[in-house]
Amino acid sequence: MAWAGKTNCNRAKKSFEPLNKFEVLSFMNHQALFQKIASVLAKEKEVSLALHQCCATIAENLKAYDWVGFYFMNHVTQKLHLGPYVGDPTDHTVIDFGKGICGQVALSGETYLAADVNAESNYIACSINVRSEIVVPMFKGDQLIGQIDIDSHQVDRFGQEDEAFLKEVNQLIVEQLDGIEDYIQTLVK
Ligand code: SME
Repeated sequence: MAWAGKTNCNRAKKSFEPLNKFEVLSFMNHQALFQKIASVLAKEKEVSLALHQCCATIAENLKAYDWVGFYFMNHVTQKLHLGPYVGDPTDHTVIDFGKGICGQVALSGETYLAADVNAESNYIACSINVRSEIVVPMFKGDQLIGQIDIDSHQVDRFGQEDEAFLKEVNQLIVEQLDGIEDYIQTLVK
């Protein structure tokens, strides 16, 4: 299973400029990690266990990915429900659409990259240690079904490489976990 890499990177759309050495390193890390996640998903078919192992694999392998978790959507109640995660426990197990970074992504269906969470006016703090956050939507076909949420204790931790990687991870999860829709239905009741 190959990782498609910089598919959604603006820079890649603009030109064929070569990657700088930091981007090459980051690309290699993400590519190797994508293979590890693919093997987790090939082995573990129980959805919550597989998602939890994906969170752990990502958090263990990427520097300053300090909280990694999934939220899933209930389009009727307009609420997000916390699924598997690794990191500090959070009180925010249910989030209204529109509230916080996660709630904004639930409405927009677009990645949200908060370089400095202290500069955000619509942000839900899970821990005072968190300094930056990225939330990447998860789609099954055209339908927005959830999101992966990463918090870092480092300011400005995330960039386009992280976004492209996390989009590919979400896509792989949806393709590999046949039971994901049933899992979500039960979780968000
Ligand atoms: N910070 C998120 C809330 C979820 S926690 O980070 C786990 C937000 O603003 O939506």
